[in-house]
Amino acid sequence: MEQFLKQLKQRVDAELPAYIAKLKAPDRLKQSMLYSLEAGGKRIRPLLLLATLDAFDKRAEMGLPVACAIEMIHTYSLIHDDLPCMDDDDLRRGKPTNHKVFGEAAAILAGDGLLTYAFQVIADMDDAEVTAETKLQLIRELAKAAGPEGMVAGQVADMEGEGKPLSLDELEYIHRHKTGKMLQYSVLAGALLARASRTQMVHLDEFASHLGLAFQIRDDILDIEGNEDKIGKRVGSDIENEKVTYPALLTMTGAKEKLRFHIDEAKRCLQAAQIRDEALLYICDLVATRDH
Ligand code: IPE
Ligand code: IPE
Ligand code: MG
Ligand code: MG
Ligand code: MG
Repeated sequence: MEQFLKQLKQRVDAELPAYIAKLKAPDRLKQSMLYSLEAGGKRIRPLLLLATLDAFDKRAEMGLPVACAIEMIHTYSLIHDDLPCMDDDDLRRGKPTNHKVFGEAAAILAGDGLLTYAFQVIADMDDAEVTAETKLQLIRELAKAAGPEGMVAGQVADMEGEGKPLSLDELEYIHRHKTGKMLQYSVLAGALLARASRTQMVHLDEFASHLGLAFQIRDDILDIEGNEDKIGKRVGSDIENEKVTYPALLTMTGAKEKLRFHIDEAKRCLQAAQIRDEALLYICDLVATRDH
């Protein structure tokens, strides 16, 4: 399974620069978009989409454009998240953050470019098995997951929550939106492309919802316990920015218990979907134990 996912990741890693190379755009803009895309993310969202397709015995090629579009939007969200007016971080994916290299204005625009190009990539998809109606659904759901009802809502709540005593419900809202929605979309996109049944969609969405929350809880834990060289970003950023996190609210032990709970629930939902779930199960374990 490790080998299988590694090969899929390599395909995404190869495809992303090809999308940037195709752009008729100013060189400096292309360089800054490429810089963050190539800095070396885990590609967990593309892998979730491709693993979902695999669960339905569908070709990876069919999902590659959407997988790349998701990674573009995720990368844009990281560039903006690191800006001085947001989390003010200097290190990302083991390299200086985009604004440290290209300047703030160029970093904002690189993010804008990645966000908008993602939708162009899906609209331009050319695959005999993907109908115009499916493309429209993919675009609509992506806008919902990334936009003001999704990731952007979570980022706003995260900013507004700085230095405030949040309840567990409020914190869960932040995590489900800023991180969960894009992970949920990754699974949904795979299910839409694979023409999953209504019931399978429901189970898979519940699976992804638990996995998304678990993913951000692990991120909070790594912000305290992680090794900077491994995670490729500065440890202690959340404490410095007075963020409310799972360890801050529940203690480290409580946060780890919550993480385990959501991973177990994710696996239970996955089983209910009755699909070939080896790759998705493997990703669950990766999320639970990841050190970067
Ligand atoms: C970091 O995402 C931001 C969160 C949503 C927690 P990842 O941990 O997926 O970062 P990369 O893409 O591997 O760099
Ligand atoms: C950010 O969460 C999630 C998004 C970028 C949408 P964090 O601020 O915790 O992510 P990191 O720790 O900087 O990667
Ligand atoms: Mg943040
Ligand atoms: Mg951050
Ligand atoms: Mg974090």
